[in-house]
Amino acid sequence: MSETSRRATKAVIPAAGNATRFLPVTKSVPKELLPIVDKPVLQYIVEEAAEAGADDVLLVTARGKDSMVDYFDSRFDLEEALAAKGKDDALESIRAPERTAEIHAVRQGGALGLGHAVGRGAAHVGDEPFAVLLGDEFCHLDDKLLPRMIELQAETGGIVLALMEVPREDVSRWGIASVDATDDDDVVEVTGMVEKPAVDQAPSNLSLIGRYVLPGSIFPVLHDTPPGRGGEIQLTDAMDTMRAKGTPVHGVIFRGRRYDTGEPAAYLQTIVELASERDDLPGFNAWLREFGATLD
Ligand code: UTP
Repeated sequence: MSETSRRATKAVIPAAGNATRFLPVTKSVPKELLPIVDKPVLQYIVEEAAEAGADDVLLVTARGKDSMVDYFDSRFDLEEALAAKGKDDALESIRAPERTAEIHAVRQGGALGLGHAVGRGAAHVGDEPFAVLLGDEFCHLDDKLLPRMIELQAETGGIVLALMEVPREDVSRWGIASVDATDDDDVVEVTGMVEKPAVDQAPSNLSLIGRYVLPGSIFPVLHDTPPGRGGEIQLTDAMDTMRAKGTPVHGVIFRGRRYDTGEPAAYLQTIVELASERDDLPGFNAWLREFGATLD
């Protein structure tokens, strides 16, 4: 079967970083398990992969982060206790993680960079196309970014990135793509990527977000990619090598809801926004309104 007709059914979630922006809590709690009220970030991400058809999930983990794998395992003792007490909702909630996807894990063996973390998926993924979902952000399931990316990758066989428009004055905070338009309003051809450009030198205001669909042919390229910026093996460098050698690179422009949980302020916004949409937190929105008024 040719590479261009296969759809990605596997996902790699790099979750082995040191999470320095979240110290001290991340000294012993993985950033990827921080809760959005009562559900960890990682569960949202695994649901996003599974909903897109990539329900074979490889977690790239690290020493001290085994609790991420435990979270997706069953807890018979707790299940029995909840069943005995007739706590059916709680029982369903603890069974949900293991039912969402088939979880595999591999240790990164040192936080040597995102490219290195993704490269640890080589043996599990093989030469198939696969999705990469960074472990500290997620998209609203209704907004269907990953399904669109997987569909596009199956058509092109190349690399598919996710892009979001950011205010011009903020471009120097992100990786920015230079792009050419295509016939599709939400798809661009990516002609280059620059990390944190000066405002007057940015080729666009389209920033890369943490979702990628990649061909399996990236693994040997990652293997040969030397450490780049920050002494880390960069996924961007490997993608750029492939682009320079003729691999098509496209970007899907995402205009939906994306939740960042990688640093404290964005994480707090995510919690408040999602908590305010729940109807099982009595009094929260009333309190939020009152509290907001005290800040004026
Ligand atoms: P980040 O750069 O945001 O995570 O990587 P970090 O390095 O853990 O956090 P800071 O910057 O020090 O605060 C995005 C995702 O990639 C994973 C992280 O775990 C995170 O989910 N990652 C990063 C790896 O798995 N391995 C790495 O070597 C680097």
